[in-house]
Amino acid sequence: MSPESPSVKIQNLKKVFNPETIAIVGASSEPGKVGFQILNNVIQNGFKGKIYPINKKSTEILGVKCFSSVLDVPTDIDFAVIAVPAPFVESVLKDCVKKNVKGTVVITSGFSEVGKVAEEKAIKDIADQNNIALLGPNTFGFVYTPSNLNASFGPQEVASGSIALISQSGALAISLMGWTMMQKIGMAAVVSLGNKADIGEKELIEYFNDDPNVSVILIYMEGIKDGRKFMTTNIKKPVVILKSGSSQRGAQAAASHTGSLSGSDKIYTAAFNQLGLIRSNTFTKAFCAACVLSLPAPKGEDVLIITNGGGIGVSATDECENFGMKLLDDPQWLEAKFRETMPDFGSTKNPIDVTGGGGCESYRKAVRIALAEDKVHALVVLYCETAITDPVEVAKAVIEEYNAAKRNKPLMVTMMGGDRSRHAIQLFNENQIPAVTEVREAISGFKSLYTWKDISSRIKEKVTVPEIPVKAKDVIERVRKEGRSYLMEHESREALEACGVVMPKWGFATTAEEAAQIAEKSNMYPVAMKIASVDIIHKSDVGGVILNIKSADEMRAAFNSMMEKVKKNAPNAKLLGVNLCQMVEGLQCIVGMNKDPQFGPAVMFGMGGIFVEILKDVSFRIVPFGEGEATRMIGEIKAKKMLEGYRGQVVNKASIVKTLLAIQRIANHVKEVDINPLIVNKDGAFAVDARIIL
Ligand code: COA
Repeated sequence: MSPESPSVKIQNLKKVFNPETIAIVGASSEPGKVGFQILNNVIQNGFKGKIYPINKKSTEILGVKCFSSVLDVPTDIDFAVIAVPAPFVESVLKDCVKKNVKGTVVITSGFSEVGKVAEEKAIKDIADQNNIALLGPNTFGFVYTPSNLNASFGPQEVASGSIALISQSGALAISLMGWTMMQKIGMAAVVSLGNKADIGEKELIEYFNDDPNVSVILIYMEGIKDGRKFMTTNIKKPVVILKSGSSQRGAQAAASHTGSLSGSDKIYTAAFNQLGLIRSNTFTKAFCAACVLSLPAPKGEDVLIITNGGGIGVSATDECENFGMKLLDDPQWLEAKFRETMPDFGSTKNPIDVTGGGGCESYRKAVRIALAEDKVHALVVLYCETAITDPVEVAKAVIEEYNAAKRNKPLMVTMMGGDRSRHAIQLFNENQIPAVTEVREAISGFKSLYTWKDISSRIKEKVTVPEIPVKAKDVIERVRKEGRSYLMEHESREALEACGVVMPKWGFATTAEEAAQIAEKSNMYPVAMKIASVDIIHKSDVGGVILNIKSADEMRAAFNSMMEKVKKNAPNAKLLGVNLCQMVEGLQCIVGMNKDPQFGPAVMFGMGGIFVEILKDVSFRIVPFGEGEATRMIGEIKAKKMLEGYRGQVVNKASIVKTLLAIQRIANHVKEVDINPLIVNKDGAFAVDARIIL
């Protein structure tokens, strides 16, 4: 195996989460110390394998025999926790290599997070050379409930379940452990990633992909070290991601229009969409989504809401509409099925309102019918606390019905009220039925079921971007040799056209006669003429743009008057000639490409004009991507309806897709590309103006 074989490392993670033998290096008998807490957690959590505390001074800690080095341990060691001060970590790791340890978690701080990059690289190199799966350093450890293993200095108790939480922040993971206990949300794993020197999100997702104890992965991320590696993650299970820290660094570094519209958060959103991750913006929503995604997938789109309060029902209806979810709409059928579950003044329109007077039995009956009927694909139960009905009794009835129906479809609950409702929520969560106090969070979590359904039905594309064409490469090399950092318009056109970007008829002329001949020959009229000069940035300010030229005579006159004006307004500029471009009509779009520091080249699409200037309505994809992603990318902009035959203006969407794919061929060779505008009409998409920065 090669030293850095990720598959071996991922296999070795099995020994980290399911070890038979553990060494805790730096175990201490002093209760205030991290090494004591970890050993104590391992013992108290009922880990069934062999535990070896490693301490140079003690012979026994917490009743367990100690060894002074891993090398003295009489049996094999699968996994070692390292909690010794930073200067000793490397030598302990080398001992682990000698002992053939498969995985480690380095708790110790004092590495790259305080600038000690070389020290971190040293331990990463040892791990790579020996295929050791190394978590951390600077982590609080992890908990894995299926093997009763708490290898952390966090809280002792974690309820078992099927969610794997991967957190970049240790403190946050610790606090979430407490929060999930309070909410009674069960976890399969809580992993603190620390500095991610070796094992990061990709490796853990790919490990949990094949772990039958994990049904959903929930990630808290602040940033990614290697975006391009992250983009190769194989997603097999639902992954919910909460990402904080949306810095503007990427946007500031970029010079072009596309650059100013990117900004790393937009690129992260693109990356998550492209990979098929479900993004959440609050912890409650993220947990709601994770819990819902542990339930069976809905067989169709029709959602039914059962409530005892009109207000909460209306709020849920609003949220369903906001999130694009479909409510079951069959009034006659609903009346026939649900009338018997409520008093006369109840409502059988979806939401089914069993009314404030509707007690436990009303809920039981309504839930039973909803679960039994195939027409109902997903169920939302809402409850407002009343003095008449005990929420805990409602919870018990719903849980019984759900279990009796063999949990056959997704169910989400919202309970609004006081302490009794809180207990009811805990009871639901304990029984793996997601329940919260907020309708919005419930419905947004529920929506993730459909998002995942959509993601998992996507056809996996094998994406290969063809090499840059020789012609485009030649143009770029020529400009580089001249010492310029950007291509002029005609050069940008040549390069992009070679890649497959479609241009309106265009030409470059140095004399009035040549301009007239080019336009005549290709029947280019009406034509836009623009001055070509490396010294002029704002062409119209110096009289360097003339539109709507309709004949050879107009062309000659336009050339001469432009030259005269520009020479007068910009006497020091070297004038190379004029760019000629056929004027085309249609919808104005913008396509661009720039480089993100983490993810590399990313392509942008948006509608032009105010959509891009004011609303910044653009979407991105990380290179490389295929036809499916390009199509989804177009569908992500808010103004997408404009491209769907708005006011009879039919546009050729396939040609936009082609442009987005074509621009990728140049992505690794230049810094930024702007096609602004890309005019789209029924015949195709035409790059009316183009700019490339090297
Ligand atoms: N082999 C075996 N035992 C060793 C050892 C070695 N090479 N080097 C040290 N030890 C023992 C020490 O003797 C001590 O045991 P003792 O209490 O019986 O004397 C124990 O390991 C711990 O070493 P100590 O020097 O007391 O360090 P410490 O406990 O104060 O700190 C860390 C060690 C790792 C906890 C500390 O360096 C650290 O990094 N703390 C931050 C951890 C953190 O916050 N992580 C991120 C969370 S998000």
